[in-house]
Amino acid sequence: MGLTHIRTPRNFVLEERLERYADAIEERPETYRGSWAHACAPLAEPGRTAAGFDAVHLDLGCGKGAYLAACAARDPHALYLGMDTEPICIAYAAQRIAEEGISNALVLPRSAESLTRLFAPGELASITLNFPTPFPKRKFARKRLVHVDQLIGYRPLLRSGGTVTLRTDSQPLRDYALAQFEGAGYELIWVSDDVRAEHPDFPVTEYEQRLAARGAAVYGICAAPRVGGIHPELAERAHAAEQSLVAYLPQDLDALDYVPLGMEGFVLNARNREAKGKRRVPQP
Ligand SMILES: C[S@@+](CC[C@H](N)C(=O)[O-])C[C@H]1O[C@@H](n2cnc3c(N)ncnc32)[C@H](O)[C@@H]1O
Repeated sequence: MGLTHIRTPRNFVLEERLERYADAIEERPETYRGSWAHACAPLAEPGRTAAGFDAVHLDLGCGKGAYLAACAARDPHALYLGMDTEPICIAYAAQRIAEEGISNALVLPRSAESLTRLFAPGELASITLNFPTPFPKRKFARKRLVHVDQLIGYRPLLRSGGTVTLRTDSQPLRDYALAQFEGAGYELIWVSDDVRAEHPDFPVTEYEQRLAARGAAVYGICAAPRVGGIHPELAERAHAAEQSLVAYLPQDLDALDYVPLGMEGFVLNARNREAKGKRRVPQP
């Protein structure tokens, strides 16, 4: 996936950056499970007790932290946590937090698999998935942050009224995610084909900026755990749904004027195959 590959810039010494911006990185986030809002709040002034943050928000797959920092800057009473598996992203996000003097954001070098070790039930007010890695192939579907099993895992971590928001350049990923949210027991709050126009308050992410310059629209879903919980039939349907994102592309690939991230190779091959009169086949 050409665009998602993160190159190390010349003169970039990762260890040195991680050390320089260590104040914005939490290396042992497991320690704070259940106490993020209070443990990370600014120290109380003499004679007063620290109130703690009003809410804890998670930017899962935060990348280089532009969205995280912008959210934190405009909402000082909440704590914003960014999580990413890429050390380079952690270094950039920490640098941004430090250089912008933001005191209510931290980055956590962890993957989504560790969520239950980091957060207690009801601890998060929201989970944001901005342009998550799409993993278009069927065999990697379980890695998608919107796979039904991942979404089921987020449910207990959200406080009452808490939300999960997906924003993506990929109509196939968004369309796939609809049944996954349903199956995981979520109620859809909104579904959008143009998040930038319909929800302009979201700060722009690095990927949004790059992909919009190539003509991408932003598709999205915002959902909250349904009070009735998970319906086994819907969960079954989500598991049984087609897991290759190729199946969610429009039939007429020539009408596609923007190819979603990660699907460039497939679309090119399929266009060539169709030009030769062969049928489109989803990747294994
Ligand atoms: C396409 S980038 C988007 C970054 C950022 N959200 C944006 O919109 O600019 C996806 C990010 O998700 C991270 N990521 C992928 N799988 C992850 C996982 N299981 N847990 C945490 N981060 C993950 C990647 O390292 C990458 O930085």
